[in-house]
Amino acid sequence: MTSLFDGYQLAGNTLKNRAVMAPMTRARAPGNIPTEATARYYAQRTDAGLIVTEGTPISQEGNGFVDCPGIWNDEQIAGWQQVTQRVHDGGSLIFTQIWHVGRISHTSLQKNGQPPVSSTAVQAAKSSAFGFNDAGEPDFVIASKPHALTTEEVKRVVKDFAHAAVNAVKAGFDGVEIHGANGYLVEQFLNGAVNDRQDRYGSDTLENRLRFALEVVDACIAKIGADRVGIRLSPFGRLHELGDFAEEEETFLALAHELSHRNIAYIHIMDQASRGAPAMPDGFLEKFRQAYNGTLILAGGMDLNKANEMINNNIIDLAAFGAKYISNPDLVERYRHGWPVSEPDHKYYYGGAEQGYTDYPTFSGATTIKL
Ligand SMILES: Cc1cc2nc3c(=O)[nH]c(=O)nc-3n(C[C@H](O)[C@H](O)[C@H](O)COP(=O)(O)O)c2cc1C
Repeated sequence: MTSLFDGYQLAGNTLKNRAVMAPMTRARAPGNIPTEATARYYAQRTDAGLIVTEGTPISQEGNGFVDCPGIWNDEQIAGWQQVTQRVHDGGSLIFTQIWHVGRISHTSLQKNGQPPVSSTAVQAAKSSAFGFNDAGEPDFVIASKPHALTTEEVKRVVKDFAHAAVNAVKAGFDGVEIHGANGYLVEQFLNGAVNDRQDRYGSDTLENRLRFALEVVDACIAKIGADRVGIRLSPFGRLHELGDFAEEEETFLALAHELSHRNIAYIHIMDQASRGAPAMPDGFLEKFRQAYNGTLILAGGMDLNKANEMINNNIIDLAAFGAKYISNPDLVERYRHGWPVSEPDHKYYYGGAEQGYTDYPTFSGATTIKL
């Protein structure tokens, strides 16, 4: 039987176990620069074979959240270097999730108060960014009406992703996870209900819907190599006002097929059923597994039994845990010994200082792993 505790070969690297710390925005990086506390937080969680960082905006334009650590300038690269060093010292691999939020942003976060950008000019009027309110204080604010990227501008955004990938390698990351999930920019192109374009990135054909995602993947591969590029997808996800559309299943299976040819490091699926979206249709994951011949990670409501069952039945290779890694820095150890798993306190998810961030103890009582 293969289990969560077994090692795994990921794109030429050995993972000490099959647990992945899922990407989680924590919004504690003033001025978008990772701090010593960021490094300590991740170092404490080197219990996971693979850590995927919180979403890291590839540009100011791509940011939708105050105090998210970015990956577009040298100061940010230097900040991340302390993170990657300490995670490697702890024996884990670390990828960074490169992120463009598209229309889930706000003018208060953009250069000169410009509108955010998207595949469409339609506002996600029921969605929030974490920007600044009228009084200039950090606050949840309704996502602003976006500017629809012109065909030329789309190419520039693709380059911004590739630039972020290069920066990630400079920062010492083992690779990047392109954020293609949860209703952000990549999905604003993939999703036929949001994408209302008429150009070669439009929603009229499956090829056109996939074009932006594949160009981003290819641009990153060209700069840092396929074994350093992963992608996160959330098929049938409905976050941030995505809708259903014709050929939805076909779109994701075709994407899986295309990505197979590219030999990327992995695909990371986020199952949003645990966050209120309709479940992926019965049998979809198995079809996706057949269409994609590389490493498959699954996140969303994972626990030890589910992880072991899916790994052992060869439905997935690696299991990702989100919220549990906030409050259990030693999650795999707890599972290994049958120790209780604690619940995180939601009020400390986003922003603030070290409370609810670096002060969750390991079960054996050490408040922090000394690093
Ligand atoms: C506080 C918090 C922040 C999150 N931020 C991100 C993010 O930046 N990028 C992303 O792809 N998913 C993000 N997620 C989703 C998680 O990666 C994960 O997929 C989700 O929580 C489901 O897994 P779980 O049931 O194990 O928590 C976030 C989740 C939480 C709880």
